[in-house]
Amino acid sequence: MMQTHSQTTWSAIVLAAGEGTRMKSSRPKVLHEIAGRALVSWVVQTALDAGAARCLVVVGHGRDDVEGELVSRFGERVEMVLQPEQRGTGDAVRCAMEADRALEGRLVVLYGDCPLIPAGLLRDLVDRSDRAGADLGLVTATLVDPSGYGRIVRNGAGDVQRIVEDRDCSAAERAIQEVNPGLYAVRGDFLREAIAQLTPDNAQGQLYLTDVVELAANQGKVVDLRGDMADMTGVNDQCDLAIAASTRRRRIAEELARKGVGIADLDTVYVDAECEVEPGATLGANVHLRGRCVVRSGARIDVGCVLTNIIVEKDANVLPYTVAADSTIGEGAQVGPFSHLRPQTQLGPRSKVGNFSETKKTTVGEGSKVNHLSYVGNGVIGEGVNIGAGTIFCNYDGEQKHTTVLEDGVFIGSDTQLIAPVTVKKGAYVASGTTVTRDVPEGALAVSRPKQENKEGYAARLRARLRGKKDP
Ligand code: UD1
Ligand code: CA
Repeated sequence: MMQTHSQTTWSAIVLAAGEGTRMKSSRPKVLHEIAGRALVSWVVQTALDAGAARCLVVVGHGRDDVEGELVSRFGERVEMVLQPEQRGTGDAVRCAMEADRALEGRLVVLYGDCPLIPAGLLRDLVDRSDRAGADLGLVTATLVDPSGYGRIVRNGAGDVQRIVEDRDCSAAERAIQEVNPGLYAVRGDFLREAIAQLTPDNAQGQLYLTDVVELAANQGKVVDLRGDMADMTGVNDQCDLAIAASTRRRRIAEELARKGVGIADLDTVYVDAECEVEPGATLGANVHLRGRCVVRSGARIDVGCVLTNIIVEKDANVLPYTVAADSTIGEGAQVGPFSHLRPQTQLGPRSKVGNFSETKKTTVGEGSKVNHLSYVGNGVIGEGVNIGAGTIFCNYDGEQKHTTVLEDGVFIGSDTQLIAPVTVKKGAYVASGTTVTRDVPEGALAVSRPKQENKEGYAARLRARLRGKKDP
């Protein structure tokens, strides 16, 4: 169904200057992350998705870090405003209005600590407010336990009269279950006037943005819209953060499943906001995709894998409990179980890295195998190379890292150490247990181990001696 929305342009003001003392954390509250994205960035993204013409963010506490996050993510699409002292949400809006005299039209004010608001709700709020010609539109929601939130006070006719903060509630007001989730669409000129009338006569001695609602109810027109509280959790402490994160995590998993990604367990798949998983890929239980992963169709990520910034190409198979970061797994390649890919690993098509193998800054050519218990670091491995169990690339001399090159078709026997820098040329063969210190020519066999000697019948004599008996 076509949704019709009014065409008025509107701007967003996101409040993100508070310290967030209840988080008990040195990080500014709005920089705490859910699904790999800072709280404030979720809110800004929502405002932009909903169609805000401009997005102003009020910063203060930890402003350098907050600005850094926003600039790196949104560039010029956000404008910063400084609130020098955190004197309340009303004061924060005042700072935005004073910083920009040209700010007009409808203004949507959002709190930077409410990361679950859907863009559609914002659009509906703007739309409803415009159609009704309201000075102020707000969203309300009902909660079984409303503690902590501002309560919505209605008059006998059922119209919104004012908002009273939790700390300022009378006993009767405290029992009100309809709360203020904190999103408002206000006519700019009205907001400018109303903000100027705020006074700090409340429990916290602050300027409350919420007092603008009473001014609007007395002097103008207010409309309200019911929202679902699950969308509007405000994050004030670590518990709220965990609740919001788990709601978001579940939503991401459901969205992926709806678009055709196989999800073994909706309750335990953790996919960060910036990851892309194509339809036709599958994710096992307890899989974590962090940062900016890309998982192409047909790829399977099995139980318990933790992948950070990994590209998994088509039809690759990542077996259980693989841990990998900043690397690429090629088409049809197989990794795991229990493999560790460290940064700058590039696995070619149909290559294999098996159990208890660790890789770092290494390219593995098409069809090559590092199947068991090996360490390959600073390596360049060609196509069709087989690396036996327990092979070590000795890449570090205590001062510098050096490169090991294995050209196409090389065979490395088990328990080999390659002391880098070293090259094994095309098709060469390295015998098991060899310590390779010099380059191996094309097609050669390198072996460095003492010749084996067999002493016939010696085992029984040795056993007797060890037991303290005479030779038989
Ligand atoms: C606020 C509302 C409350 C509502 C709740 C919803 C007010 C007075 N109260 O309370 O009615 O139910 O949100 O989550 O508005 N901030 C600034 N500058 C300041 C103070 C705060 O930028 O001086 C920012 C904070 O960074 C935060 C947001 O405003 O992102 C909300 O502030 P917070 O202190 O969390 O307000 P609540 O007590 O949750
Ligand atoms: Ca809050």
